[in-house]
Amino acid sequence: MFIESFKVESPNVKYTENEIHSVYDYQTTELVHESKNGAYQWTVKPKTVKYEFKTDTHVPKLGVMLVGWGGNNGSTLTAGVIANREGISWATKEKVQQANYFGSLTQASSIRVGSFNGEEIYAPFKSLLPMVNPEEIVFGGWDISDMNLADAMGRAKVLDIDLQKQLRPFMEHMVPLPGIYDPDFIAANQGSRANHLIKGTKKEQLEQVIKDIRENKVDKVVVLWTANTERYSNVAAGLNDTTENLMSSLDKNEAEISPSTLYAIACVLENVPFINGSPQNTFVPGLIELAIKRNSLIGGDDFKSGQTKMKSVLVDFLVGAGIKPTSIVSYNHLGNNDGMNLSAPQTFRSKEISKSNVVDDMVASNGILFESGEHPDHVVVIKYVPYVGDSKRAMDEYTSEIFMGGKNTIVMHNTCEDSLLAAPIILDLVLLAELTTRIEFKAENEGKFHSFHPVATLLSYLSKAPLVPPGTPVVNALSKQRAMLENILRACVGLAPENNMILEYK
Ligand SMILES: NC(=O)c1ccc[n+]([C@@H]2O[C@H](COP(=O)([O-])OP(=O)(O)OC[C@H]3O[C@@H](n4cnc5c(N)ncnc54)[C@H](O)[C@@H]3O)[C@@H](O)[C@H]2O)c1
Repeated sequence: MFIESFKVESPNVKYTENEIHSVYDYQTTELVHESKNGAYQWTVKPKTVKYEFKTDTHVPKLGVMLVGWGGNNGSTLTAGVIANREGISWATKEKVQQANYFGSLTQASSIRVGSFNGEEIYAPFKSLLPMVNPEEIVFGGWDISDMNLADAMGRAKVLDIDLQKQLRPFMEHMVPLPGIYDPDFIAANQGSRANHLIKGTKKEQLEQVIKDIRENKVDKVVVLWTANTERYSNVAAGLNDTTENLMSSLDKNEAEISPSTLYAIACVLENVPFINGSPQNTFVPGLIELAIKRNSLIGGDDFKSGQTKMKSVLVDFLVGAGIKPTSIVSYNHLGNNDGMNLSAPQTFRSKEISKSNVVDDMVASNGILFESGEHPDHVVVIKYVPYVGDSKRAMDEYTSEIFMGGKNTIVMHNTCEDSLLAAPIILDLVLLAELTTRIEFKAENEGKFHSFHPVATLLSYLSKAPLVPPGTPVVNALSKQRAMLENILRACVGLAPENNMILEYK
């Protein structure tokens, strides 16, 4: 059964006018590796740590600024939210289609809250904590192309034409702000759309972005990069390895500071969350250091939308089932502007890196299947095929060793409607980034409440190559990432983590 909303009643949770306060017993373990009678032994000691969570329940008026607003993702997300807000339906060759938020974790997925009369009871994910309503978001952003959003939606060729016609009046007046363009960082084939640029030195460009952010008349702003994939920036001592060096490189107009890093510095200086939806290393060490110092949220990298999402489910299943994946070969072809940009070797390399580490944690989790350092062969190929447009094809072959030397080969063909998969993920990223900035917590041994670490690992369910704070394990398995997010939000309202034991029926 599905219920629309619920309220938790417990001695551990208090609702006041402005906040929800919960006390939560976190069950964890402490590991000891010690010598006993001359031999080393691991001991696992279960322990409970009391945590307190405070969530500010005031939902702000949110402005979302997209870098690359006029691209396929930016125009599709904007169009999709307007279509939902206006209750638009349109004729397809199959049926009359209603606008929806399918593919969004926050808007279209559910959580289990318990059982009632022998039935499982589920509620919307978004009913856990007060979140911004997507239809109240004020969208804006930058693009190096001056096309208005209605024309950009046409250029993207993603949405049905009957829907586009109805959306045009809402989008014609939306024009992106000029963007920071550096032809050295994206493919040369993007040059023809770069007609709308912030001029000046890198410092002047950064100052303009800060000015643009400040001009919003909203309570809070979140900025998200959905512009073209850049090549990797060099990371070097003296250049961008520390905040001091990064800022002094900026003063020197150092060529190696990428546009995405400039937007991100602007956001960190303004204490505005910045999320990187592309694979490049926007977050150079000096920038991560700055974000930590200023406690300003950064998250990324690269949306986990299609092939990688499948991979982070399938390899988790195989390794979890005691099956040994030995070769993973992933081909993609796509024909949108992203595909054209990725056809240059330097930008493709960014994508290749971002897609390559996704199985590492799962492989490392099973020393029965894999010896230390052993890894499946893993190859990623991306080709640009204009005819398929935004309808990306992903073909994967997973070969695994099974019982007694047998082999199992799974071949998958996945038509990833690229922007229709990415747009709801962008929505989730901005909504969850905003929500997490309203949560504070402390462990029993900590005096003061504090926010989550500014490197937002809570968003990793939505990221292909999750950015984590130095010294933190990367979790790629999709089910673990979702459980982490859901269980932390549950803790904020005093609900136990979903442990799937269902003892009440055993
Ligand atoms: N769609 C997906 O499923 C998916 C998944 C993961 C990552 N991504 C990444 O998202 C990004 C956007 O994808 P898309 O399909 O919308 O691409 P797109 O090419 O349609 O849109 C990118 C937009 O960014 C603009 N732009 C480029 N550089 C800019 C800059 N420095 N400042 C401001 N604007 C700039 C371009 O003019 C363009 O309008 C790509 O990097 C892609 O790799 C997409």
